Amino acid sequence: MIMKKVALTGIKPTGILHIGNYFGAIKPALELAKEYDARYFIADYHALNTMKDPKELSATIRQVAAGWLSSGLDPEKVIFYRQSSIPETFELTTILMAFTAKGLMNRAHAYKAAVQENTEKGDDPDGGINMGLFTYPVLMAADILLFDSDVVPVGKDQVQHVEMAQDIAQSLNYNYQGEREFSERQFSRELLRLPRAAVQENVAVVPGLDGRKMSKSYGNVIPLFAPEKELRKLIMRIVTNSQGVDEPKDPDTSQIYLLYKLFATGEEQASLAKRYRQGGMGWGEAKEALFAAANRTLAPIREKFDALMADPKKLDAILEEGAEKARPIAAATVARVRKAAGIDFS
Ligand code: ADP
Ligand code: TRP
Repeated sequence: MIMKKVALTGIKPTGILHIGNYFGAIKPALELAKEYDARYFIADYHALNTMKDPKELSATIRQVAAGWLSSGLDPEKVIFYRQSSIPETFELTTILMAFTAKGLMNRAHAYKAAVQENTEKGDDPDGGINMGLFTYPVLMAADILLFDSDVVPVGKDQVQHVEMAQDIAQSLNYNYQGEREFSERQFSRELLRLPRAAVQENVAVVPGLDGRKMSKSYGNVIPLFAPEKELRKLIMRIVTNSQGVDEPKDPDTSQIYLLYKLFATGEEQASLAKRYRQGGMGWGEAKEALFAAANRTLAPIREKFDALMADPKKLDAILEEGAEKARPIAAATVARVRKAAGIDFS
């Protein structure tokens, strides 16, 4: 039997999903799942670093899980689980800590940015920084290394973390298997498989309502599950220039058109582009075309999402079934590492 390579990614449940997440992360990851053994999980312990309201955290976990399922994740094909359902994650995290240089954590972008922000404000450099943020890359390395991941689909901002997971895995492999033997491949397998980040280079940045990158932090998002009326209202709010109806317009610099491209067929795109260039079409009409195309794609996703959110028991059961498939894989890795480390007396 030819073993498929493993793709794994974690999704931090820190807010409502928007169409930037859908086109930039969810769709490409679901494409990848066709070729790989995919293991996708909700990184709820990572979210805990910033989300301290229990009601909000559990609601967001369910929303994000339902979001992936309604976008087409098939839990029969992808192992889909919550990070917090895999206790082995924390056992491996502790072991990895012993191999992680503090200096490596000092260099992590997220931590450095937080320190810099404090310093610029004249505050204590470590103000408001918890150990969860400082050791974030170690927990993420455990998530990745537990499941023999080959590729980790992530956004550019997470590449450094995947490289750190690789560094940490190499330290363990080197310590327990030795450089010479390891390089000569005398072992049937590495202790920990080395992962690499897969950044989707050809995925366009989805623009937000104000023309900047669509992002929760800019408050310019179109939520993936916006009810029809809200979707329409948000699209009508997209900022445009003052060109009049008769003037010819350039589709390639119009965010309405850029968004339209995400939802429309090639033919539809060509036809709207032509109307832009001809003149005689106002922004209102272009927005109506965008709304119709967006709603056509989003309506069935929204329906599935609403059904899942109305039945949290079913949703939780899907995540639990995923965890049951994931745990034996994680347990095998931890057993291997404990044995290598000399702390397994069984
Ligand atoms: P946000 O910027 O709203 O906080 P996240 O940082 O949580 O979004 O992003 C989660 C995933 O969605 C990442 O893989 C990121 O690359 C992708 N993503 C977010 N916004 C966009 C966007 N506007 N265009 C394309 N991809 C995006
Ligand atoms: N840190 C990632 C983010 O902020 C989420 C994450 C946690 C993750 N564990 C992971 C991503 C493991 C890939 C692999 O988006």
